[in-house]
Amino acid sequence: MTPFSFLHLTDIHIVAPGRGELYGLHPAARLAEAVESIARRHGPGGPAPASFAVITGDLAHWGEPEAYAVLAQELARLPIPYYLLIGNHDDRTAFRVAFPQAPVDEAGFVQRSLKTLVGRFLLLDTNESGTHAGRYCERRLAWLSAQLAEDEEPVFLFLHHPPVRVGIHRMDSIPLLDAAGLWEVLRPHRERIRHLFHGHLHRPLAGSWHGIPTSSLRGTAHQVALDLAERETVPGSHEPPAYALVRVTEEDVVVHTHDFLSEAPAFHL
Ligand SMILES: [Fe+2]
Ligand SMILES: [Fe+2]
Repeated sequence: MTPFSFLHLTDIHIVAPGRGELYGLHPAARLAEAVESIARRHGPGGPAPASFAVITGDLAHWGEPEAYAVLAQELARLPIPYYLLIGNHDDRTAFRVAFPQAPVDEAGFVQRSLKTLVGRFLLLDTNESGTHAGRYCERRLAWLSAQLAEDEEPVFLFLHHPPVRVGIHRMDSIPLLDAAGLWEVLRPHRERIRHLFHGHLHRPLAGSWHGIPTSSLRGTAHQVALDLAERETVPGSHEPPAYALVRVTEEDVVVHTHDFLSEAPAFHL
């Protein structure tokens, strides 16, 4: 089959206009560069068309309504549909005001199911007010359970917080805290869960969780350094920003990370 392609972006961290730089850069300008790259490469008729983009949270650094307004304005320039998750830096209420068209579940969590040519994409909400760690409570689990009971389609999971610890001390203190409960709900469906995409770590990462392949990537703004020392701060870095082009067939899932600001010379081998 022709691969089904979509984009994975994460950790945009927009700040409200007038608040200046965040860690020495302008997240909205960085997002604009990503949108331009996507428009050149991944729109209909482009060299690597993608069906849509999924953005796995930390959309706004402080969750201000003005930051979400900037985000909406910028994403409107995308040549493809986009689907948003929220992360620990987001404010669910402000998000829902800025994106009233974004579906929520019966309890108001920003969760949705997308039916695609390659299976069901489940976008989970791990935001919990008052903490940077992720939660996936009984009500959210009930929604997930009901979605999984609807059919036997292959499943692709998206969530901001990773269920795995990666060795970066401060980030490992704010992971998905309810990973065990999540696994209990997923376990009976393990054979049809093809991949788990997450954000939060601002790093290119691949691995597995209970045998489920996982991946993440750098954000479009600031990054987290590969620094495993025990310290109480997050080790930041200005490694290049990225988005990912994901290609899926019945047999495989391939994740290409693209450093969209790279000026490294291209040539033919
Ligand atoms: Fe983040
Ligand atoms: Fe995060």
